[in-house]
Amino acid sequence: EKGGFEHFMLKEIHEQPEALANAIRGRLDLHLGSSVLAGMSTSQRELAELVRVVMVGCGTSLHAAMVGEYAFEDIADINAEVQQAAEFRYRNPIMGSRDFVVAISQSGETADTLAAVKEAHQKGAFVMSLVNVVGSTIARETGRGVYLHAGPEISVASTKAFTCQVSVLLMMALKLGRGRRFSREEGLKLAHDIGSIPLLVERVIAKEHIIAKIAEDYVDNEHAFFIGRGPMYPVALEGALKLKEISYIHAEGYHAAELKHGPIALLQPGTPVIAVACEGPAKDKTLGNVEECRARGARILGIVTEGDTDAEEVMDDYISIPRTHPLVATVPAVVALQIFSYHVARLRGCEIDQPRNLAKSVTVE
Ligand code: M6R
Repeated sequence: EKGGFEHFMLKEIHEQPEALANAIRGRLDLHLGSSVLAGMSTSQRELAELVRVVMVGCGTSLHAAMVGEYAFEDIADINAEVQQAAEFRYRNPIMGSRDFVVAISQSGETADTLAAVKEAHQKGAFVMSLVNVVGSTIARETGRGVYLHAGPEISVASTKAFTCQVSVLLMMALKLGRGRRFSREEGLKLAHDIGSIPLLVERVIAKEHIIAKIAEDYVDNEHAFFIGRGPMYPVALEGALKLKEISYIHAEGYHAAELKHGPIALLQPGTPVIAVACEGPAKDKTLGNVEECRARGARILGIVTEGDTDAEEVMDDYISIPRTHPLVATVPAVVALQIFSYHVARLRGCEIDQPRNLAKSVTVE
């Protein structure tokens, strides 16, 4: 059942090119530079009237939502925000019919996300789900939604669900954007880059042996920091979550700019800092933060863009990912971190598919 892989997590990492192709297939309009998402179909007028996107979710799905936040703002030019599902529910969310609420969940059974959906419905928002498991409670409760088509995800650590969620969020932002200010030309370029995601991920997976070798040098640490900026900030959070849940290394994900506001006090010679510094508007600033970490003797592993020698030079080790649109790059970047975490955990002899204290779906609040 593990298809020859040692763990479901590794199998699911390797399934990503296919899962992503399934999530994207038939959903890009390469003529209009837009996307076709049946679950989002409502009149263009209704879509144009939306004033805000609010994404809710937990854990890895929350991190996908955070990438979505950048995508909606950049591409669709719409006010976008993310709320942890439990927070959303116990606050007093101010919203109405022109708010677009997207509930993100792999399992479709997470109690807090389900409760958030109910709350959003009560407030009269336009609610939609982004779920993997067909017919799950959240999918039924929202009534309207887009399925990921990622296939079953067995490993507690979510991998292919995240990359498919981000890909679909990019397509949602593209659809919304094309009804607003995003031009056909920009749309065509982005649609092309989204269409290449399966290939980009395949190219990262092809580097597994290199990443596994790098992982050997990060096995004996009890602490690690992951940093990033812009859309690579949620990628850093997701990298830290992956590492901590399967390897039990204490991993903190931080916005690179936040380091100097406290956490840098914890850096000592040899402390690992994983810097997601792919090309994009935030890259140079991230490299500046990397220098600050180096000055404290930290050991830096960079996730960089292929051929970016400026970035390679400031890192002790690096994993390079193919060059693409900075939002699209979040997907191959996270795959590099999934593979890294997997191999660190494997070398530490951890129970990768069943980490202690964790369940695949959290159906209690
Ligand atoms: O099924 P969901 O996407 O709603 O699950 C949310 C989280 O429980 C889940 O992503 C969790 O954080 C994973 N163990 C992360 O790998």
